Amino acid sequence: MTAASKTFRSQVFSVLRPAEPSPAARRWRAFHLTVLAVGLLAVILLSIDEFAAGHRIYLRSAIWIVTIVFLVEYLVRLWIAPEMPLYAEMPPMQARLHWAVTLPGLISLLATMPAVMMTGGYGITGTDTASVFCILWIMKLGLHAPAFGTLARVISNERAPITSVLIVFAILLMAAATAAHMFERVKQPEAFGSLPNAMWWAVVTLTTTGYGDVVPLTTGGRMIGSLLMISGIAVLALMTGVLATGFAQEERRREYLRVWDQVSRVPIFASLGVVTLSEIVGKLRTRYYPAHVTVLRRGDPGDSMFFISNGEVEVRLPTGGSVRLDDGAFFGEMALLNRQPRAASVATTRPTTLLVLYASDFYEIASHIPALAEAVENEATRRREENLGREGKR
Ligand code: CMP
Repeated sequence: MTAASKTFRSQVFSVLRPAEPSPAARRWRAFHLTVLAVGLLAVILLSIDEFAAGHRIYLRSAIWIVTIVFLVEYLVRLWIAPEMPLYAEMPPMQARLHWAVTLPGLISLLATMPAVMMTGGYGITGTDTASVFCILWIMKLGLHAPAFGTLARVISNERAPITSVLIVFAILLMAAATAAHMFERVKQPEAFGSLPNAMWWAVVTLTTTGYGDVVPLTTGGRMIGSLLMISGIAVLALMTGVLATGFAQEERRREYLRVWDQVSRVPIFASLGVVTLSEIVGKLRTRYYPAHVTVLRRGDPGDSMFFISNGEVEVRLPTGGSVRLDDGAFFGEMALLNRQPRAASVATTRPTTLLVLYASDFYEIASHIPALAEAVENEATRRREENLGREGKR
């Protein structure tokens, strides 16, 4: 393989890499999602007989096009598999084989199945076949949704509390099912005559679903039912709390890593020690702005300041001129230091990644990292004088 085609392969790989922030990668993801949405819509519409009758040819064509896109995507992903860091040491064919049998590889392959089914003479007229496409494609959507990776990590991180809640659930379920079986089995032998049947009632009650297909009739059974409903609400609330906290912590951890990566590009932080830096990193948030978006408006109250990790902004000065700031610079500090409204409007000139520091965190950091506070204050003073000078010249 020539060096040029190897570079091309790595370029394609970076475009298809999940969560890659480059504009080309974002465009690809938007295109992929649109294709998926079109495919799913076509499949859904095809399952509505009255609608499909008059539009079958268009719906079939849409499904064909979507399937071809997925087929090409699968082949490309197979081709770029050797670029994955995990397979870096393997010969290309071995890397491709390895990727092909991973979950993403298998799901990507399954997503191309509609093509095989169509060319194999199965047709795509029936609701059943259409539903199969729906399942295959929705799995592909799951593959590219970052939320799934996060969910897996949250479940893994929180496995101890999740297991505890599940054990409480199991204890309540078994105890209630056994008690209800004892109280109700004579009056309702069909619904409560066996433990598995009683467990069905217990699950429906404990999860607060309440189909109402089976209800206890004895006083004892009703008391068990009441307790179970109240416990059900508590157990579900507990599970919600565990998962919500897990998600929030996971998001904080990811943000920390993202910021850590970006912070090195801001010179004002370069001289800080690791401990101080890690404290600041915990307080910064990354924000991606497309080109030509207003970040700050003159006259607005100031609640945060910004560091440019990469990109460029234009500061539109009140005197009429403008100043451009790029990688490593900061802005929005004057409102925080002077406790006054924003002195100028600031807008991006190209896609820009900013690190945001909220006012309360800025004051806290400034109070115990004097060197940082001083550097920011000096620059703010210089800017104020520059603006006054410009105003004087007008
Ligand atoms: P703030 O007043 O909070 O919001 C607007 C920001 O524009 C201001 O903080 C500064 O960070 C920035 N700014 C104002 N004047 C200048 C200047 N002359 N040069 C660079 N940046 C400036």
